Amino acid sequence: MDNIDSIREDFLREVSTAGNLKDLEAIRLRYIGAKGLVSSLLKEIGKLPQEERKGFGARVNELKNFVESTIAEKKEILFAKETEMRLKSESVDITLPGRRIPSGSIHPVTKTMDEITDIFFRLGYEIEYGPEIELDKYNFELLNIPPLHPARDMQATFYISDQLVLRTHTSPVQIRTMLKQKPPVKIISPGTVYRCDSDATHTPMFHQVEGLLVDRDISFEDLRGTIEFFLKAFFGQKTRTRFRASYFPFTEPSAEVDIECQMCMGKGCNICKNSGFLEVMGCGMVNPAVLRNVNIDTEEFSGFAFGMGVERMAMLKYKIPDLRLFFENDLRFLRQF
Ligand code: DAH
Repeated sequence: MDNIDSIREDFLREVSTAGNLKDLEAIRLRYIGAKGLVSSLLKEIGKLPQEERKGFGARVNELKNFVESTIAEKKEILFAKETEMRLKSESVDITLPGRRIPSGSIHPVTKTMDEITDIFFRLGYEIEYGPEIELDKYNFELLNIPPLHPARDMQATFYISDQLVLRTHTSPVQIRTMLKQKPPVKIISPGTVYRCDSDATHTPMFHQVEGLLVDRDISFEDLRGTIEFFLKAFFGQKTRTRFRASYFPFTEPSAEVDIECQMCMGKGCNICKNSGFLEVMGCGMVNPAVLRNVNIDTEEFSGFAFGMGVERMAMLKYKIPDLRLFFENDLRFLRQF
């Protein structure tokens, strides 16, 4: 009986110092495992005199139940403690900022080309593309620029062969479109063009946007309204515009369009050479000679056309001081768009 009490005391002390589930399991085995202290007490019952067996057996069973329930309670406490510790050590610190994935941006020339075409797209123009390697016939002849015409000198041409050139402007898309489509024709054509020219203000490759509208009863006033609407949408509603008479072989009459200088807002500076205005595009009524070249009846139809340089439009709108910035691929410049 004394033995039972001392085993109980030993057990209680050991359980109270058990700090984890592993220690607790060792204690459980030591007391109530198959070869444990309490189990061996139970085996001794048979060796006792008959009259002591009942009382001793009851005490040992009581001790066994006590050990079992105490261990179960302690197990719960230790399990909760260990779970809490594990959750703490395995938790992820979600307050740490993530690593940034570098993302590209649209090149200013592309962005400007998109902005220009988008304004005309909203006016119902369809987008057309043409090849950069073009027939001399489409780049020049059908646009009313015959061989030896002085206008060819204005556009120093890269010749591939007698009949093939790198297109010097987007105007041949006018010809291609009218050859495949009867009026009404209402198109805008952005693209890359080439001229054998290279200095601070010219690059051998650059970009243009061409426009063409052919229908019944189209007058110069339609051209003027359209261009004015476009320039105000692109540069801002307050932008003043000006038409100046000019010459292009494929339009008659022809005009060049100026906007108020965006650097000095018309006051006069060295950029606009003190005129307060800057040229932004060429335009005019489609020359009847061109319409005849593509078999359109000039009694029934008339049209207007226009063309502009994208780099120039981008420089004016975003106040970019040097053409070369477009082609150097300096990320500090490009990231601003
Ligand atoms: N193709 C001309 C150039 O590259 C620009 C131009 C002027 C286009 C007048 C037109 C136009 O459609 O009507 O200089």
